[in-house]
Amino acid sequence: MIFFEILFIVFVICIFLFFIKFFLSFWGVFLILTQNQYILNMKKILVTGGTGFIGSHTTVELIQKGYEVVIVDNLSNSNINVIDNIEKITNKRPIFGKVDVADKNQLFNFLDNHKDIESIIHFAASKAVGESVEKPLKYYSNNINGVINILEAMKHFGIKNMVFSSSCTVYGQPEQLPVTENSPIQPATSPYGNTKQINEEIIRDFVAANPDFHCIALRYFNPIGSHPSSLIGELPIGVPANLIPYITQTAAGIRECLSVFGNDYDTPDGTPIRDYIDIIDLANAHIAAINRMEDNKQKKNLEFFNIGTGNGLTVLQLINTFEEATGVKLNYKIVGRRAGDIEKIWADASFANSELGWKAVVPLKQTLLNAWNWQKRCANIE
Ligand SMILES: NC(=O)c1ccc[n+]([C@@H]2O[C@H](COP(=O)([O-])OP(=O)(O)OC[C@H]3O[C@@H](n4cnc5c(N)ncnc54)[C@H](O)[C@@H]3O)[C@@H](O)[C@H]2O)c1
Repeated sequence: MIFFEILFIVFVICIFLFFIKFFLSFWGVFLILTQNQYILNMKKILVTGGTGFIGSHTTVELIQKGYEVVIVDNLSNSNINVIDNIEKITNKRPIFGKVDVADKNQLFNFLDNHKDIESIIHFAASKAVGESVEKPLKYYSNNINGVINILEAMKHFGIKNMVFSSSCTVYGQPEQLPVTENSPIQPATSPYGNTKQINEEIIRDFVAANPDFHCIALRYFNPIGSHPSSLIGELPIGVPANLIPYITQTAAGIRECLSVFGNDYDTPDGTPIRDYIDIIDLANAHIAAINRMEDNKQKKNLEFFNIGTGNGLTVLQLINTFEEATGVKLNYKIVGRRAGDIEKIWADASFANSELGWKAVVPLKQTLLNAWNWQKRCANIE
């Protein structure tokens, strides 16, 4: 009799342990699913140029908002380590393909393995104004073929939405400030600027002929800053063509002196005015644009938005704010004007504020401090 009692107790314990194990397995699966927030309905996005400055920050924001990101980049102006650092920030590694988007075969072969992509953010392009004057064919070949191949890929693989990286350079020196999206497009002052204008026209013609496809062109003003983690940032190869990396490299002692090009412009202190937009704010504008297309909220199947703060700042004001934010004194000198620079431009961002539901929120001092912290990390400065 006692034998059957013991057998019964062992049986009950076994059943109990079985249920505990079953519950724990179920709980484990539940945790994995919830840690990956939207894993059950994650949308796949192709980010071209995703290891570059704006692409890497946008990838981080996309992953953190539950998207699955596939990056293609030919690493012509970026480093593969960026993928590791995106993973460190997000705990998720984006899929990466070393692909030249200007090469249609490479792009199509890669996309053959990713047929579930729903939207594209197209950053990949050559972007240095000065270099484009010296090597115009490099810019026309890379930037124009890139867009044509991306549009052909959209059609071939049935990818309906695209966000395109445009630029405020399309406005040239505007007669009226701030510039709205309806301000006239001016003749381009560089081959780079011309490629952005031609790209916008190609996309306009493409969506007119293919009304099932949607595009939002974001006209960026001057993107600056870096991720607050200091794990990703702007990484210019060689002498920086943009102001902020030049400022931070001068502050770090890598460059001897910062040249301010011209102080005889018609501005409060004579130096040129620009609208500096934080990189995280800019990244989030792309997500607002993707959401707008996914939610069918577009009023036309090609829309343009100015992505800026709405505030213009002179170069000297920017330098002073950098010194205040970081406590570092900058060695700079005023030199003559630089060919091709315009006098002043800043955005009217009210259309993006009201229609996209997007607004720049990061304070300028925070942006400059983030840029400095990134530079310090790159240069091993304590
Ligand atoms: N940074 C700015 O001031 C600014 C302003 C307005 C517009 N934009 C536009 O935003 C986009 C991104 O700019 P960014 O500042 O991140 O530049 P970036 O150079 O840091 O990033 C561009 C990335 O594209 C890659 N790339 C270039 N050509 C490619 C090709 N054929 N195939 C695959 N990858 C290629 C580069 O390796 C790089 O990683 C560009 O289209 C640029 O014209 C930039």
